[in-house]
Amino acid sequence: LKLAVLISGGGSNLQALLAAAADPAYPAQIVCVGSDTDAAGIAHAHAAGIPSFIVRPGDFTNREAWGLALAAALREHGIGEDPEEQSLVVSAGLMRILPAEFVRTFTPNLINTHPALLPLFPGAHAVRDALAAGATETGVTVHVIDEGVDTGPVIRQARVRVLPGENEADLHERIKELERPLLVETVREIALGKIQLSQL
Ligand code: GRF
Repeated sequence: LKLAVLISGGGSNLQALLAAAADPAYPAQIVCVGSDTDAAGIAHAHAAGIPSFIVRPGDFTNREAWGLALAAALREHGIGEDPEEQSLVVSAGLMRILPAEFVRTFTPNLINTHPALLPLFPGAHAVRDALAAGATETGVTVHVIDEGVDTGPVIRQARVRVLPGENEADLHERIKELERPLLVETVREIALGKIQLSQL
């Protein structure tokens, strides 16, 4: 399974996937890393010798044009090119809404990880929103990206208790402690055919 990982930030989920894929027994290979900005996480791709590319929304007149350029960059790196070889695009902290045409091109081989128990707390501030709502439990969701925002079919979830008085950064880090292995394992199961994305 050929993976492309899309990031916007520090890329600790990318780092976990890189570490897993370094084991030749892991059934997926990361062939490229893409970002919408010069994200710190791109350093992890460089360190692993994985090609990376930046496609900046600001360089395009609208979201659709950005999406087309992002799709082209993925194809240039062999993602979605060969119908014989399954590809998977993993959004791991990409803080952008992907345009409908991009989603239609890649889904269902297009997944996202979100730091809340969807459908609870969708959007860009999930951890903050869970705290503000006084949630005593939250977690992480790996789901197929559809044309909505954080609305695609749920693939896997993991739960974490919210500690009294915990702040956003601490809670988010504890969520990530579950998120990273969940993402690695979910990608493994997709690669092995234990999860059929087209049947969700
Ligand atoms: C992850 O928690 C992801 O769910 C959210 O942004 C965070 C990215 O973290 N969308 P990292 O860049 O992988 O460390």
